Amino acid sequence: MKSIYLLLVLIVSICVVFAQESITVPEATVTTPEATVATTVAETPVAETPVAETPVAETPVVTPPVATTEPAVVPTTTTTTAPATTSVVAAAGDCLSADTFSTTDFFPNKLGALDSSAQFSVTYSNTYKLVHNLALDEYYVLYCTKAQPDVGNTFQSKTFIQIPVRSFAAIDTRALGYLDLLGQSNNIAYVGNVSNVTSPCSNKAPVLFDVNNANLDRTLYDVAIYPGSANNDPKGVGLGVNYAASPLGNAQWVKYFSLFTNQEVQAETIYNDIATDYNTFKNSINEAGHISYRRNVTFMNYDPSSTRFNILQDQYFRNLTSDAGANLITPNVLQPADPSVMKGQLQNASLVIDLTAATAFQTSFSNWQNWLGYSDSAIASATETALTNYKSSKKYVNSYDAPPFARNKQLWRLDLVSNQGSLDYWTRGMARPDLVLQDLIQAQFPDYFKSRNRVFLRDFDDEEATRTASSSDDYGCNLNNWAKAESVSYTNSAADAPDLDGTKSKLSLGVIIGVSVAGGMVALSCLVTAMILLIRKFKHNGSSKFTRLNDETHHDFNSGALDRDPMMMEETNEASGGRLGGSGRGL
Ligand SMILES: *[C@@H]1O[C@H](CO)[C@@H](O)[C@H](O)[C@H]1NC(C)=O
Ligand SMILES: *[C@@H]1O[C@H](CO)[C@@H](O)[C@H](O)[C@H]1NC(C)=O
Ligand SMILES: *[C@@H]1O[C@H](CO)[C@@H](O)[C@H](O)[C@H]1NC(C)=O
Ligand SMILES: *[C@@H]1O[C@H](CO)[C@@H](O)[C@H](O)[C@H]1NC(C)=O
Ligand SMILES: *[C@@H]1O[C@H](CO)[C@@H](O)[C@H](O)[C@H]1NC(C)=O
Repeated sequence: MKSIYLLLVLIVSICVVFAQESITVPEATVTTPEATVATTVAETPVAETPVAETPVAETPVVTPPVATTEPAVVPTTTTTTAPATTSVVAAAGDCLSADTFSTTDFFPNKLGALDSSAQFSVTYSNTYKLVHNLALDEYYVLYCTKAQPDVGNTFQSKTFIQIPVRSFAAIDTRALGYLDLLGQSNNIAYVGNVSNVTSPCSNKAPVLFDVNNANLDRTLYDVAIYPGSANNDPKGVGLGVNYAASPLGNAQWVKYFSLFTNQEVQAETIYNDIATDYNTFKNSINEAGHISYRRNVTFMNYDPSSTRFNILQDQYFRNLTSDAGANLITPNVLQPADPSVMKGQLQNASLVIDLTAATAFQTSFSNWQNWLGYSDSAIASATETALTNYKSSKKYVNSYDAPPFARNKQLWRLDLVSNQGSLDYWTRGMARPDLVLQDLIQAQFPDYFKSRNRVFLRDFDDEEATRTASSSDDYGCNLNNWAKAESVSYTNSAADAPDLDGTKSKLSLGVIIGVSVAGGMVALSCLVTAMILLIRKFKHNGSSKFTRLNDETHHDFNSGALDRDPMMMEETNEASGGRLGGSGRGL
């Protein structure tokens, strides 16, 4: 067995030597990232350059002071406690005939303690829930009695909502993903944009919430969900989903919705299932040593109103990227105004995820390339030049014209499932970070999952087609049949840099032995070549040393040099108001 192996190695090395002398191995075969050789040298981790960021001002949980005239309605803690006088639990229906000061606890199933990343809190009383939307700093009183409770004027309550609500107006369509999970798909009367309804979960298409329509029937909904403050809508509450929160932080909003429908128990289960799977995949991909070369990721978009690009550095993208085992590149310029500056910022990107609306560059991949200033021919020649430079300097520097993502075709968009330009990612991406995470892992390592269809990320430079959502079964409207995901044991030692020394087959014996799966394919084709060549002549030559790519770890810029725009700061600076929605940055 051992001698057969040695013979094989001998033949392959002869082949390699011949190949070096007499055959031009097609570039495509050798420059594939997967064909790159494993190395035992661990990559030096890229030093994290912290971006100076004004910390989010913690909005303290307001406990209304004791109002002496109404002792019974004073909530005491942030989540649970009901007054000690509370008696038997009653069905929510009975609450309608109950008094505001009833000693019966009509909300026996309370939310447990919320994670610190949650952007809302709730205080339970017997007949109402006081909800504090921390993201908007607004209070809502959700009451189950017939009449609104008098909660005094110790806090500014925007809205009183009678619960349980039976129908919704999803003016911010990001509510849809959460409502689907809670089984409320058929209870959505209105939406802010009908083409945004990408999910197949409802069999009752919601109608456009058109404020200009004098006949808009406001009795058809019990609560309306707005992206920010609900100006002038007495049934309106706000949502605070935001890229300033982590992916799991945003997933917690499912619990917020459950407060309106008394589905706290379901919501806890849903969130825990999502978090469990998210953490399973996060832990699997980040297992020490399993990925030799971490990929560099850039999320970008272009905002037509400010005519600037954005390189997204929000907490959401930081956590998502590192949880997917990759590095989020820290740019020198956060909001390039010029495509060529944007292009410069992509120099080291292994994967680019562009959230720009397709209309901004006229939809197709070749238009995208033209827009940023890339071309296939320039990518090919710049790759050659970079290799030539490498030979003299022994330092591989990515060319501006041929960054890793362009060489390896790794330009992605989040519109795999979409409907006339409306993204399914928009309506349920925030509700399902477990799916987003799996997509990002799969985009980097297509063989990570044995069989899985991506749900948000579209391989744009392969011109993968967009599609509408498939049947509600495949889509997973709810998690009723949830089964914990298995952790994945995966190893990948392929660099996404070019196979520098392998290009002209200067492989050493040791390296050939190191070649694993993908290398085996090369060896096989090499074997065939060797047999042909052996018939011609035999020539001996020494093998040369394999040199691994040295990643530059030095950053010569500092956070102070970052060209930060006030728009990027608004999420962290302002306590309320401008933090949400309307930033034009995609969420
Ligand atoms: C998100 O990332 C930060 C570091 O950027 C880390 O401190 C924090 O724990 C992460 N949050 C979650 C929920 O994983
Ligand atoms: C790309 O990485 C190199 C080092 O490998 C560094 O010198 C250069 O500044 C990086 N480019 C950008 C745009 O960050
Ligand atoms: C609805 O969304 C689509 C895609 O996002 C957009 O093209 C369209 O203009 C929107 N319609 C309205 C009424 O805002
Ligand atoms: C509809 O979806 C798009 C993204 O696909 C988003 O930009 C827009 O704000 C959404 N509209 C509403 C009303 O939610
Ligand atoms: C990843 O980016 C860093 C700079 O942020 C760069 O030094 C490194 O070479 C990049 N990796 C690859 C494989 O291009």
